[in-house]
Amino acid sequence: VIFRQLFDRETSTFTYLVADGADGGAALVDPVREHVERDLKLVRELGLRLTHVFETHVHADHVTGAGELRSQTGAKTYGARSGGPACADEGLADGDAVAVGGVTFRVLATPGHTSSCLSYVLSPSDPPRVLTGDALLVRGCGRTDFQGGDAAMLFDSVHEKLFSLPDATRVYPAHDYRGMRVSTVAEEKAHNPRLRTTTSRDEFVAIMRALDLPPPAKIAEAVPANLACGEPTQ
Ligand SMILES: [Fe+2]
Repeated sequence: VIFRQLFDRETSTFTYLVADGADGGAALVDPVREHVERDLKLVRELGLRLTHVFETHVHADHVTGAGELRSQTGAKTYGARSGGPACADEGLADGDAVAVGGVTFRVLATPGHTSSCLSYVLSPSDPPRVLTGDALLVRGCGRTDFQGGDAAMLFDSVHEKLFSLPDATRVYPAHDYRGMRVSTVAEEKAHNPRLRTTTSRDEFVAIMRALDLPPPAKIAEAVPANLACGEPTQ
């Protein structure tokens, strides 16, 4: 499996490139509009062609590159079937699987940061990998105070869906604010200050309620733009 982690410094967002290397088809997950040319250049340099674009959720902090990538390459775009980007070519729900060449993206519904967040388990993948969006960050998690966010729901998503993956599964989040770019399920179960298995659901809800964060700088622009895949709407 070809697996690359790309980064947007302005919003601390990760974009992932995934391909099996044999068939030539490639997927981007959570592309950022400002980096469409960078991402397509890498796809070409690796001898790949872009066939799929996945979103983990409707982002509030940056505008997606999905629409621009689709119009430049003909790649299909994917997001949550209910509550996801209305512009996506195909809607996904828990249990769905999408093949990108020989790599399968298995869909886990992991709501709570937003009402319709998805995580993607890659298989085959050595090591095993899950792309967790903002549901589970390295030693953290996405906020739960807007876009249908719900702390109790996020707790259940992380504990029931993500923490039931094998302990050695590598956790690849949608953001990094601490200089920590990858983790494992075992590490987060033990050391995530909000979600480790010794923290109860009530404690987690109280932690999230106490955060009192300012809204993201681009939310007013980003959410409507992302519902339209980042393309201009009339
Ligand atoms: Fe987010």
